[in-house]
Amino acid sequence: MAEGQSQEDPRVQVEAARKAFEQEFERFARFAGNSPQRPHISLAEAEVEQRLLDELRTRHVGKKSAIAACGKLIATVFPARRALFGQLVEQTERQMFLALDEVKQSLKDIIETARIERERLDVTIPGRRPRRGHLHPITLLRERIEDIFVSLGYAIEDDREIETDFYNFDALNIPENHPARASQDTFYTTEGFALRSQTSTVQIHAMQRRGAPVRMIAPGRVFRRDTPDPTHNPMFFQVEGLCVDRGITMAHLKGTVGEFLRRMFGPKTVTRFRPSYFPFTEPSAEFDFSCFKCGGEGCRICKNSGWIELGGSGMVHPNVLRAARVDPEIFSGFAFGLGIDRMCALMYGLDDIRLLFENDARFLKQFD
Ligand code: FA5
Repeated sequence: MAEGQSQEDPRVQVEAARKAFEQEFERFARFAGNSPQRPHISLAEAEVEQRLLDELRTRHVGKKSAIAACGKLIATVFPARRALFGQLVEQTERQMFLALDEVKQSLKDIIETARIERERLDVTIPGRRPRRGHLHPITLLRERIEDIFVSLGYAIEDDREIETDFYNFDALNIPENHPARASQDTFYTTEGFALRSQTSTVQIHAMQRRGAPVRMIAPGRVFRRDTPDPTHNPMFFQVEGLCVDRGITMAHLKGTVGEFLRRMFGPKTVTRFRPSYFPFTEPSAEFDFSCFKCGGEGCRICKNSGWIELGGSGMVHPNVLRAARVDPEIFSGFAFGLGIDRMCALMYGLDDIRLLFENDARFLKQFD
């Protein structure tokens, strides 16, 4: 009697292998081709299923599987039944393979579709336009002022914002303990430096650098310990003007400022000078121009006065020329200074200059 015949019927083992397979395979039935609905699963879920299916394949049809063990039994079966048993093993194994392959293909399809969907690119969707920046209103105004003075033969000076007391005060004829230091109080560092409180500092640098004659404007940032309100900021912009030569008089000052304002606000613009005081000019004057909105009739912009105050000016004080090693016996000059922020607010009808530095894109985009 051949070996194996004495053991229990080997078909039982084949049946057990089939049942064990079917039990575990059940969770994959939903992916079979004839399943009424293929489930909607994510790419990640499908990949997990794929891995589980591979593991199941190794377990049930791999070399060490129960059905493989049945295959080894074929040779031990009684010859008369061997062929039939062999067929049974083979058929069972083939069915397992068929079922596994079908689900494998199905998962492959699901994964492929999900990947294509993920990488899909709709070339017809309109692109996102990059937001284009533009110049700040202060810069726009500064450039207009620069253009006018360059056409009048002035150079443009760009100088430092951190200064020593000498340039910010002493050289401008504001000695220590002079009350003018209080109205232009600024921010000090620990090393004897301070943020400049006016662009007049550039008068000294320009004369030291260029000597006389000199004609320049110096636009730039200045700083004061002013509490912010609708017309004050602790940081704002000024433009300084300086003209030093032989025989320069107050008439040159009036002519230059008048011409600048006519080019800025129209040929009918009238300029007026009022006596004033600045330590670095003598005589000194503040200048106003006829309102660009109402032409002098009186309106909201000029507060019904017909005039708009713009800045300070005067003939350069001999002490200032001396501090910059320019001989006041030979040379004389005029200087003026104006604040750009308030001018900008007037021109664009802003009722608060703080708007200019709040970085609110809704406000700034109006100047594009
Ligand atoms: C001066 O600063 C002088 N250096 C101007 C000058 C230059 C006079 C040359 C004579 C010769 P004043 O302190 O007035 O002057 O300031 C000039 C302008 O700066 C003002 O008219 C105003 O428009 C602007 N300004 C002053 N303080 C502030 C502030 N806190 N915020 C915004 N603008 C200001």
